[in-house]
Amino acid sequence: MKFFIDTANLDQIKEAQDMGILDGVTTNPSLMAKEGITGKDNILKHYLDICEAVEGDVSAEVIAVDFEGMVKEGEELAALHPQIVVKVPMIREGVKAIRYFSSKNIKTNCTLVFSSGQALLAAKAGATYVSPFIGRLDDIGFDGMELIEEIRLIYDNYAFETEILAASVRHTRHLIACAQLGADVMTGPLSAISGLLNHPLTDKGLAQFLADHKKGN
Ligand code: G3P
Repeated sequence: MKFFIDTANLDQIKEAQDMGILDGVTTNPSLMAKEGITGKDNILKHYLDICEAVEGDVSAEVIAVDFEGMVKEGEELAALHPQIVVKVPMIREGVKAIRYFSSKNIKTNCTLVFSSGQALLAAKAGATYVSPFIGRLDDIGFDGMELIEEIRLIYDNYAFETEILAASVRHTRHLIACAQLGADVMTGPLSAISGLLNHPLTDKGLAQFLADHKKGN
């Protein structure tokens, strides 16, 4: 499973990259705003900075909600850097735009996906990635993981090449469940990734090893 970090924070991106396990980055307009990145030039510059900080795909979201606007914005984003993946919302015009980008060999990430039917449409349109938002489904009493399972089954039935990018991952257990269910990629906060490191028996065992080594020397 590929690990993407879901943030526009350069320090966190660099920290994950430094661990040597990062495969890419996802951003969205809320995450960019959270970092105080506003205005077109600053936003494009920030995407470039992110691309320089990591080796893998970097999702950059269009703001337009009409086909022509998405195409214009998406082509501009894609021309910015070869690592850019154009993130497009799961709406009618978005599906058309994904088909268009696919015909131009521009990578896409279909975002705001909350049902397997939407994921099927994204795959039919040729999306590179589909982003089911598991945390937001959990928030309203649905089971985000069931959605990952449904999409995995559908995509496997027809050998769709669209990769399942489990998004809105909130914590380490989400991340592990995504791996169990065969998501191709997960994107989550640094805390969900770092949480994989933790086990009290590791800490206890290491402390013991170091203490024993000290005694013997
Ligand atoms: O990747 C989508 C993600 O940014 C949404 O996460 O935590 O806002 O639901 P969240």
